[in-house]
Amino acid sequence: MIDHEKYAAAIAHKELETRLIRVDADNIAQKDLQLTAEALRAGELVAFPTETVYGLGANALDAAAVSHVFAAKGRPADNPLIVHISSIDDLEQLVTGIPRLGQNLFAAFAPGPLTLVFRRKPAVPDIVTAGLDTVAVRIPAHPVARELIRLAKVPVAAPSANRSGRPSPTRAWHVRQDLWGRVSYIIDGGMCTYGLESTVLDLSSATPVLLRPGTITARQLSEVAGRGIINADSGTEPKRDAVQDIELQPRSPGVKYRHYAPKAKLLIAADARPASKHSQFAQYLAQMKTENLKIGIFCSQEILQALGEKYYFIRLPAVGGNSVKGSIYAFVYGEKSDPDAAGAALFDAMRQLDKAGVDVIIAEGMPEGDNTAAYMNRLDKAAANEQKHPGGQRP
Ligand code: TXA
Ligand code: MG
Repeated sequence: MIDHEKYAAAIAHKELETRLIRVDADNIAQKDLQLTAEALRAGELVAFPTETVYGLGANALDAAAVSHVFAAKGRPADNPLIVHISSIDDLEQLVTGIPRLGQNLFAAFAPGPLTLVFRRKPAVPDIVTAGLDTVAVRIPAHPVARELIRLAKVPVAAPSANRSGRPSPTRAWHVRQDLWGRVSYIIDGGMCTYGLESTVLDLSSATPVLLRPGTITARQLSEVAGRGIINADSGTEPKRDAVQDIELQPRSPGVKYRHYAPKAKLLIAADARPASKHSQFAQYLAQMKTENLKIGIFCSQEILQALGEKYYFIRLPAVGGNSVKGSIYAFVYGEKSDPDAAGAALFDAMRQLDKAGVDVIIAEGMPEGDNTAAYMNRLDKAAANEQKHPGGQRP
């Protein structure tokens, strides 16, 4: 048996013991992290908090350890991992020549939620990059992540710490739900600040390409870059020839996979505001109600209030009380339409609503824009499973 098969077998036979370690992000006791840093360095898997989402870390220079990440997540082998470092000084060992644009962007946004893709050095194992000649690198800002990587003294390959296809984890219990018995350690450092994965920008060829929108927006990147950036998803911006190039050869294998999906079917109410009885939100709600489905909604307080004139809602996270037959579960992310607050709460809401057992989630859509791109990208992906029917079985 090859190594990752052995690891998968150990998981299947329940031989792997997971330990949970709580770390106070505001007051990190080094000794708490020392143990996990040494385990990481020695080839074990450690899930840890970052400012975006929780990551599932392995020593990036240890191909066997990285193969265990794929086994633990059930991740397709052709989807490469982001390598996390604690300082810009560690970049040189991974990439061949750092373009000026990369230096400028990291100077502006690192440490933080920005991942840059560079041409890689041979020292990076093939399994990390799924055989690509590029490597994605991020310097996380979360104090626990930085200290863990610094103490481990190795670059850390880390995808989001969820089972493949599930919403990314933004709280430690999300990681426990997906990875208990599959990794050595889970570090609980509280809730992630941004709640959506990092912006991924490809700098490996002449034109920078946005592979995944995130908290750092396309406009912010263009301002520092002093030039336009091509969006790999829409392929609408500047150079036509470069866009065709991307269509022929997908640059980020990850984008083709289904992502972030709750168990429930997800509907996006395009014109959510104001929630008049003619809004799509109200229409979906009325329709799902007649189909007798268990419904969850994800929206601002403002929308909940408008809908509340007609329906009775149970607020999540639940604080006790009995579920009334026919009641609708509501996860409210903030006072009024706010893409950052919605993004920060989205994945938690999906898991909470799934836990409540809803058949369908109606989520607040937002108009197209620079600061709504990341939130709408994740919503669109989560809703993209067209085989799901309200009330029907998952494939
Ligand atoms: O915020 C984040 O980025 C989190 C935290 C843990 O840092 N990580 C994360 O990793 O979201 P993951 O594996 O879930 O998503 C990484 C994305 C995937 O879409 C993958 O295809 C892409 O980055 N990627 C990784 N290496 C790449 C490369 N060399 N070229 C193009 N895309 C790459
Ligand atoms: Mg992921």
